[in-house]
Amino acid sequence: MKKQIVICMGSSCFSRGNDRNLEVIEEFIAEHKMEDLVDLRGSRCEGKCDHGPILKIDDQLFSHTNKADILKILQENLVTGD
Ligand code: FES
Repeated sequence: MKKQIVICMGSSCFSRGNDRNLEVIEEFIAEHKMEDLVDLRGSRCEGKCDHGPILKIDDQLFSHTNKADILKILQENLVTGD
């Protein structure tokens, strides 16, 4: 089953880092040739701006993400995970 990554593209998360985080995720997927294994989509504001920038992988929510976090999260959830 594909992993579903949802990145918040609401204005708060977007302006506080998810614009760059989206690029990091896209590069990671391309580098690891995971295009067929990952369903990446954007969402509108999730109502959790105080915790932003936020990202979800399947049902797990990640808060206050930055580039370093994102790479670690992707590595753990897409590569070394199940
Ligand atoms: S903009 Fe992302 S939770 Fe509001």
